[in-house]
Amino acid sequence: MHDKYGREITYLRLSVTELCNLRCRYCMPEDGVCKKRHDEMLTREEMIMAVRAAAALGIRKLRITGGEPLVKAGIVDLCREAAAVEGIQEVCLTTNATLLPKLAAPLREAGVNRLNISLDTLDAEKYRYITRLGELEEAMKGLEAALSCGYEKIKINTVLIGGFNDDEIPALAELTRRYPVDVRFIELMPMYDSGDFGPEAFIPYTAVTERLPELSPVPADGGVAKLYRLPGAQGNVGLISPVSAHFCTECNRIRLTADGKLKPCLHSSDEISLKGLDFDGMLETMRSAILAKPHWHGELSYRERSRANRNMNQIGG
Ligand code: GTP
Ligand code: 5AD
Ligand code: SF4
Repeated sequence: MHDKYGREITYLRLSVTELCNLRCRYCMPEDGVCKKRHDEMLTREEMIMAVRAAAALGIRKLRITGGEPLVKAGIVDLCREAAAVEGIQEVCLTTNATLLPKLAAPLREAGVNRLNISLDTLDAEKYRYITRLGELEEAMKGLEAALSCGYEKIKINTVLIGGFNDDEIPALAELTRRYPVDVRFIELMPMYDSGDFGPEAFIPYTAVTERLPELSPVPADGGVAKLYRLPGAQGNVGLISPVSAHFCTECNRIRLTADGKLKPCLHSSDEISLKGLDFDGMLETMRSAILAKPHWHGELSYRERSRANRNMNQIGG
């Protein structure tokens, strides 16, 4: 269906858990999350019912997010059930990849079409720093496992952080020559509590084209990234600019958090609960949430932080 600004909403991002086996500094606090009561979270049945309601309203693409979706018990079956919902044409999943060595094959078999993998550095020491808990080798093994399982597309997400990984822009882009993957550089979004970074940590997407003049533009693939290619590369370099050039006018998505809150916009505090509703209730609530989708997310900067009163792990990006 269309929202009141004429945008067709076809994409649901479903966060299946707030928990994660890593603690990326821009995403969640060091001590993890205050684990919510089980009965506050959506059950698996409610998640599938919500996907069915969304599909009935015209959602065709589903992205499973977290936290880290692969730490959720029963994730493979959840993906299988979601992929079987009538009207859902594509199931995608965003992951830190560390659990893919075991799960890449079963998820593909369950019907997951595409994977996006978060990877901010190729340096083991820096990876340990940014994720607070992670080992680069495990993520790289996860990427290799995914590459061997026949996914339709694999994209790497790199959050651009000034003074941390701007020196690695060429090396990370080089992955598009080594592997059949896209590498997307994402501007750091100032969430309400992702507080380790000062204003100098924000670097605009144009830093990438400045560092890599050999990039040539290619047509967009329907996603939010501006796409480019290095000569001889197997995949694209994408630039995602939520801060310096927002893409709200073309936004086609709604979000559902693991605790059952529909978020018509990533950076708005508006939340509408689906918890405990039956199918018809979910359908009507989702319809009103789509109609209530704001025009844009408002100014976003180091000073004007996101109005979402959650960290990224509690939204799913
Ligand atoms: P594709 O389906 O492959 O196009 O993926 P995607 O970009 O929709 O999803 P992914 O989970 O890989 O997100 C990549 C980055 O884009 C993350 O940093 C998200 O937070 C950000 N992002 C995704 N959707 C939105 C949005 O609607 N608004 C803003 N500001 N950022 C978004
Ligand atoms: N700014 C930009 N991207 C972020 N992500 C998590 N937190 C932020 C943030 N503050 C990214 C992750 C993941 C995707 C879902 O969102 O790296 O790839
Ligand atoms: Fe976990 Fe992803 Fe957040 Fe990192 S960005 S802490 S991997 S949910």
